[in-house]
Amino acid sequence: MRAVTVRSPAKINLALSVGPPRPDGFHPLATVYQAVALYDDVTATPREDGELTLEVIGDFAAATPADDSNLAVRAARSLADRYDVSAGSDLLIRKTIPVAGGMAGGSTDAAAALLACSRAWGLTIGAGELTALAAELGSDVPFCLVGHTALGQGRGEQVTEVMSRGTFQWVFAVSGEGLPTPEVYRELDRIRARRRIPADAPSVPPALLTALLTGDPGALAVALSNDLQDAALSLRPELGDTLRFGLEHGALAAQVSGSGPTCLFLAEDARAAVDLAVALAGSGLCRTVRQAEGPVPGARVINAI
Ligand code: C5P
Repeated sequence: MRAVTVRSPAKINLALSVGPPRPDGFHPLATVYQAVALYDDVTATPREDGELTLEVIGDFAAATPADDSNLAVRAARSLADRYDVSAGSDLLIRKTIPVAGGMAGGSTDAAAALLACSRAWGLTIGAGELTALAAELGSDVPFCLVGHTALGQGRGEQVTEVMSRGTFQWVFAVSGEGLPTPEVYRELDRIRARRRIPADAPSVPPALLTALLTGDPGALAVALSNDLQDAALSLRPELGDTLRFGLEHGALAAQVSGSGPTCLFLAEDARAAVDLAVALAGSGLCRTVRQAEGPVPGARVINAI
């Protein structure tokens, strides 16, 4: 048994099409995920006494639950239960990804914990088994294991790789306060009921898949979409100012990230991304700004002691 560190990326949704709620309360999705180069690192150090402990450090540590409710701890526990592991683990999360920001920060920590603990405990588990466990923990967790660019179906947990050319430059405006995902889905249902908008079966715009094949940020900019954006803006109207500010300062496109409240901006190139990030940082509209390219791989071991 050995200490293992796994680095796991944030995700964005290039398209997020949401259908009517299912009997289990989840919404059927057709989404295109992209993993971006903002990472959390999770280190699992095995313990013989069977205990699971958690310490969180880094940018967003104060906003991260450091108890058993943390998805990384739940991931480690479900792995231990499923494979009859008597060992425990000290988990250390170094956070760089905003918490409750619509970028799968919690999900990616769970993906990282699954991989780190499985290696630290010396388990031999196939990718399919790990993905099945990931899906039980959360809709985004399987994607965080694979990364790159992928189609998500079902409630988001059924992941298929999508062809994408080149690298895109993204800028993120991070809010001071997170937005709980269930609230945003409920708001979408309310808006649709109020406006009598039928919730059709979800689908991904073909133009988006074509744009990804060209690698052209201009083509991608006009193909981005997010059904949760109206709901996030209804709960946080001030996000509209942030999106407008980005568009006025050179962004090719601006969109709420997943369920929000992080706003994402697509830049023409790396230089334009820096200019936009500087402008947003001085705007007073967000808590902090991040810049990252995508796509990048999913969770992977970066060192094993
Ligand atoms: O799957 P996960 O635990 O990340 O989902 C968090 C919450 O987001 C769910 O409890 C549900 O309220 C909402 N959700 C949904 N439909 C999805 C994914 C998430 O309604 N496809």
